[in-house]
Amino acid sequence: MLNLGILISGRGSNMEAILKSIKRKKIPINPSIVISNNPNAKGLKIAQKFGIKTEVVESKGFSGSRAEYDKKIISILTKNGVTQKNGLVCLAGFMRIISPEFVRKYKNRIINIHPALLPSFPGLDAQKQAVESGTKYSGCTVHFVDSGVDTGPIILQKIVKVLDADTEETLAKRILQKEHQAYPEAVRLFAENKIKIINGKTKII
Ligand code: GAR
Repeated sequence: MLNLGILISGRGSNMEAILKSIKRKKIPINPSIVISNNPNAKGLKIAQKFGIKTEVVESKGFSGSRAEYDKKIISILTKNGVTQKNGLVCLAGFMRIISPEFVRKYKNRIINIHPALLPSFPGLDAQKQAVESGTKYSGCTVHFVDSGVDTGPIILQKIVKVLDADTEETLAKRILQKEHQAYPEAVRLFAENKIKIINGKTKII
């Protein structure tokens, strides 16, 4: 079976949605390790409740380069069986840009969730960007990670209507509900080997 590594920075609700789905035997993948760059991430306690091993590689005050930081992450992933051959890495609210070295090493094996319909509103504060733009629809996107910011091949998206009365917070809340459906679904598709990448686009088979 594939081994899963999840990288978080905070609340960990997407991680929790994935772990719940795995527990219910909906996804054929082994949750090996959860890694946080933030020692106070609430998600660490949630992972422990699920009986998943956790590690912290604190990024605050880390004096080395991005590649050096990622080397530590890669070493933990590898030790826990999340390899280039037999692993999947999920970024679940991991608020760091990962190095080209990390992306290369786990080519097409790192996926991310973003709270907008990419390619609209990449980067930080996606829900705020959506509300301020006046767009009528936003949502979430699960995509493969490439060397750009929020630019890799899109696996799946879910749509959320933006209401006139929406604030950043109310929109984020409704998008998050869709994220909790989308991320486990995308991990399942990957684990069942149903995603092909052709010319930079995915095809679900
Ligand atoms: C989620 O809304 C996720 O889409 C977003 O951070 C939140 C993490 O929540 N990620 C990004 O904005 C990445 N660019 P969670 O820790 O409860 O899963």
